[in-house]
Amino acid sequence: MLLLIATITVFNFNSIILESVALPLDSNPVSKSDNKKALFWQSSVRKGANVFNRKISSSLITAAKGYDIDFIRLAPDKFLSSKRDFLIGDSDNHTNLIDEDLKTLKSVLDDFHIQKIPVVLTMLSLPGSRWKQNNNDKDDLRLWLSKEFQNQAVKFWKELATELKDHPAIVGYDILNEPHLESLLLNQSPRNSSKVKREELRHHLLQFYSDVVKAIRLVDHITPIILESSNHADPSSFNQLEPIPSYQKNILYSFHMYEPFPFTNGELNKANFSYPGHTHSSFDEEIEFWNKTKLEAYMEPVKAFQLKYNVSSDQILVGEFGAVRFSKGVDRYFKDLIDIFNGNKWHSAVYAFREDTWDGMDYELGSKRRKWNWKMKNQTEVGQVGDDHDDDETKTNEKEYLPNNTIFSVLREQWAN
Ligand SMILES: *[C@@H]1O[C@H](CO)[C@@H](O)[C@H](O)[C@H]1NC(C)=O
Ligand SMILES: *[C@@H]1O[C@H](CO)[C@@H](O)[C@H](O)[C@H]1NC(C)=O
Ligand SMILES: *[C@@H]1O[C@H](CO)[C@@H](O)[C@H](O)[C@H]1NC(C)=O
Ligand SMILES: *[C@@H]1O[C@H](CO)[C@@H](O)[C@H](O)[C@H]1NC(C)=O
Ligand SMILES: *[C@@H]1O[C@H](CO)[C@@H](O)[C@H](O)[C@H]1NC(C)=O
Ligand SMILES: *[C@@H]1O[C@H](CO)[C@@H](O)[C@H](O)[C@H]1NC(C)=O
Ligand SMILES: *[C@@H]1O[C@H](CO)[C@@H](O)[C@H](O)[C@H]1NC(C)=O
Repeated sequence: MLLLIATITVFNFNSIILESVALPLDSNPVSKSDNKKALFWQSSVRKGANVFNRKISSSLITAAKGYDIDFIRLAPDKFLSSKRDFLIGDSDNHTNLIDEDLKTLKSVLDDFHIQKIPVVLTMLSLPGSRWKQNNNDKDDLRLWLSKEFQNQAVKFWKELATELKDHPAIVGYDILNEPHLESLLLNQSPRNSSKVKREELRHHLLQFYSDVVKAIRLVDHITPIILESSNHADPSSFNQLEPIPSYQKNILYSFHMYEPFPFTNGELNKANFSYPGHTHSSFDEEIEFWNKTKLEAYMEPVKAFQLKYNVSSDQILVGEFGAVRFSKGVDRYFKDLIDIFNGNKWHSAVYAFREDTWDGMDYELGSKRRKWNWKMKNQTEVGQVGDDHDDDETKTNEKEYLPNNTIFSVLREQWAN
């Protein structure tokens, strides 16, 4: 029954594109009924998964379809390129989109479209902001200090939107993954982010978002744009976020949920913390009892933001949530989080589905370590591995999927409903 509804929605979603191209590109937001890409988010609470892999195999797409995953949040930054940075060319000096990379990306989007799985495209790198994992593990915050880099990033998105606006698979442009300019403004740890002045944030982050949104809307009025809160998309940073006024309707605001981090992060946890249980958040030393009530309280700033600015729940996306699968209580943690997300009618996407280089968040494998997991020892944080060129295909075949394990069952139920 539920499956049938999902199929119909996707079918409708796919019939839209021809109608929508004809819309005028003036400065007025497209009305709800005209824009089926916006309708994708407005018509139902969407439940997706993240894929940041180097290659996207057809078996991954087929499996995602089999589990009824509503959408994939896709980061192409690990895709092979003849240039240093996929699509961008060179994050130190972006001039134009790389044609062959664009072809690669479009062909992956085509593959998703054939299986009728919508895609949110997110960028881990932008000009002046190279993803740490592709940057010798060094954080790159030049974007926030340089108008030149911001202009390059704005131009990058405008050109990308020009290329992708008619692609039927795309349901969102997620401008930049986990911005964290707090580190820069305070020149110290993100823990002190509460001291960031609102005016500084507006100037650096909101001005940049506003510039990108304006530029995209010159060429593409259809595709929803997704803006993440600062401090690595922390929900508490919704205190400092503001909507982009003139384009309210077709924008989603997004956060990522990995708190309490000492529980969700494998390196920090080392089997010390279980859920529910006592631990602290990334930004607060205070040990507290983390259960559903505490999780809810942690995300309260998102609801306050919605109330303050009249932002509806279908404009909120939990772009990532996850926990290393070896931690005790991950199934319960997911159940509680999902309850909160669904209760608030927020869209959500788990991190990750069938990740290639690291299996710590490949929940389909259950909660036990696999035999050849030497990579875990080289791993310091979410998604980070020593050698990320090591590839999926052969290893994927060695994976023993246990779709009925308790953690994955929680996710399957979420996707199926
Ligand atoms: C950036 O690239 C352009 C075009 O290749 C070149 O003319 C310019 O000198 C480069 N700028 C820097 C700062 O490297
Ligand atoms: C962060 O703020 C605390 C006080 O709230 C201060 O003691 C500490 O020195 C600050 N950290 C840095 C690196 O400046
Ligand atoms: C976590 O457990 C390890 C041993 O497994 C221990 O050495 C360490 O002190 C513990 N850390 C915390 C914060 O409890
Ligand atoms: C979570 O723990 C707090 C403090 O112990 C308690 O007051 C609250 O009722 C608990 N919430 C749930 C959902 O069990
Ligand atoms: C809030 O937004 C809704 C549409 O989402 C609108 O109908 C309503 O009038 C708005 N309320 C205020 C107070 O602006
Ligand atoms: C880290 O990875 C390399 C392969 O890239 C491996 O040879 C090495 O043994 C690993 N280190 C640890 C501590 O497991
Ligand atoms: C998972 O459970 C279902 C019944 O809930 C069963 O039909 C299926 O065979 C099981 N799959 C595996 C791989 O154990």
